Amino acid sequence: MVHQSFILLVFLLCITSSYSTKFVQVDEICQKAKNPSFCSTLLNSKKGADLVSLAQYTIGVLRVNMTNTVKLINTLIAQSGNDVKALTHYKMCLKEFVNDGGALFVLGNVERVLKEGNYHLMSVGANDIMQDIRNCIYDTSYHDTSSLPSYGEVALQIDQIIQIIAGLFTA
Ligand SMILES: *[C@@H]1O[C@H](CO)[C@@H](O)[C@H](O)[C@H]1NC(C)=O
Repeated sequence: MVHQSFILLVFLLCITSSYSTKFVQVDEICQKAKNPSFCSTLLNSKKGADLVSLAQYTIGVLRVNMTNTVKLINTLIAQSGNDVKALTHYKMCLKEFVNDGGALFVLGNVERVLKEGNYHLMSVGANDIMQDIRNCIYDTSYHDTSSLPSYGEVALQIDQIIQIIAGLFTA
């Protein structure tokens, strides 16, 4: 009987610790960011929220941003006419965002592994998203003068915040 209670206690402690809420100051997150003021502006509206809520919020912001980026890419494709170089570039970008393994697809996985508490995979996913976006906006075979590169830079900055948060869960 004593033995069983002990096992129950250990079990309960495990559950409690895996569900324990972690709080980190916005400043602590944003001082690690490439663009700290952008980061603060984004997260200050959620000041005082726990780390999971901050992560969920940032994932939501990135989803909206990348969805708008996809709309822009579709517009650019429609405007490219017979410009093969432009078409090739923008179609490649579209794939980087919407294909299986593309940025929006991976963002769905990031959201899932956050819920599962797998912060390592969350960080791996954030890194994959960065790579997808970079493949599009740093494509050296096309000089893109549209707003797409700057949309991409903003998405990179938001994604970097997700990566920082993923690291802080285990810090
Ligand atoms: C992306 O998110 C940032 C920060 O919330 C916002 O300023 C910007 O307008 C968004 N851009 C797009 C294309 O949604």
